[in-house]
Amino acid sequence: MKVVVIGAQWGDEGKGKMVDYLADDAKVVVRYAGGANAGHTIVIGDQQYALHLVPSGILYPDKTVYLGMGMVIDPEALFNELQMLKDRGINWEGRVFISDRAHLVLPRYRELDKKRDAERKRPIGTTGRGIGTTYSMKSERDGIRLADLDWKEKIEDLEDADKEFLNKYSERLISMRVNLTAEMYKHRNDNILLEGAQGALLDLDTGTYPYVSSGMSCSAGAAIGAGIGPRSLDKILGVFKAYSTRVGNGPMPTEFCEETQSELYHYVRETGREYGVTTGRPRRCGYLDLVALRYACQTNSIDELVLTHLDIYDTLDEIEACVAYEIDGQKVVDFPTSIEALNKAKPVLQKFSGWKQSLKNCRLYDAMPKSARDYVDFIEKYCETPVGIISVGYERNDTFLRTKVW
Ligand code: IMP
Repeated sequence: MKVVVIGAQWGDEGKGKMVDYLADDAKVVVRYAGGANAGHTIVIGDQQYALHLVPSGILYPDKTVYLGMGMVIDPEALFNELQMLKDRGINWEGRVFISDRAHLVLPRYRELDKKRDAERKRPIGTTGRGIGTTYSMKSERDGIRLADLDWKEKIEDLEDADKEFLNKYSERLISMRVNLTAEMYKHRNDNILLEGAQGALLDLDTGTYPYVSSGMSCSAGAAIGAGIGPRSLDKILGVFKAYSTRVGNGPMPTEFCEETQSELYHYVRETGREYGVTTGRPRRCGYLDLVALRYACQTNSIDELVLTHLDIYDTLDEIEACVAYEIDGQKVVDFPTSIEALNKAKPVLQKFSGWKQSLKNCRLYDAMPKSARDYVDFIEKYCETPVGIISVGYERNDTFLRTKVW
């Protein structure tokens, strides 16, 4: 069975934790898109791991992980991350493989990425990891794939600094290089988890363009990124937080007002630890945006939603969520494409009672207070998609399933 996990908002929804949780029943984990711009946090007991490139299944000693063909891989970042894992006692040798179709990030691309964003009239606020430049090189057909590392003429044509950089990592990359389609075929009867990066609204095609990343963070990208066809995907899970966050620039219709709602803004940011794992930047915070979430369900065929960070609302008297936008005096329920419209959108909010108790020990839906269930029931109805998994804390086991995943 093949299960896809995507972010259903602007990234940072808790995908890493979910992939780690679900990987227990998988044999293989494939990260299918993005690069070192991602930051997936996993907490196991008193240990916290921040992964950027390596799939989140790596922490189980018996899982094989693949970096997929939709990814852009910075070898320096990859080997630093693998070294960090080794230093922390995670033995990864022999179970981390990379698609020979994945593209490589060169140091020069990182610099270009930062320079281009700084020169933009309306900067995107990139993570500066060379992501946009590498995907541009790929679509211009000037990129370098792992498969090209032993294509002598192509490597010879590169600038000296690029050659030197690749030289340093070539042998190790080649030793981990595989034909991913053939590997997926080999594992066709196994449970495979496909791990997305970023989120639905940061996808190049379906996100809030141009304020997006450059990879395919949508569920359709899972098939391409893993080298299989779309009919092979069995289930798509969309992870979302009980509220919204966004890092970098671009429209966010439900963002709290930092001046008039300073207390709520800072409460959510601090309690939810809303600081970027990759850049340390404070995340923008706001109400749950159901208009955007329903759009993500529709563009990604989400079978089940996965709700995280519900416990962050434990102490509030009242909770609000956005059920429509008001744009130029009109009520809008379909997520607009125009950035101008999104910038003008004012959230129409629906109030819910708070539950005023800790959810941390809940492991059954019916054990949750009624107000918490009312919030979840409303989300399900609005999005016409069931909420199948709920996370009520940071640790691996602060999670419960309402239905079987595998
Ligand atoms: P880039 O992917 O570094 O080009 O950044 C493009 C936009 O996507 C910026 O607004 C980033 O903050 C955002 N972004 C990229 N990766 C992530 C992520 O993993 N989580 C949240 N935001 C991200």
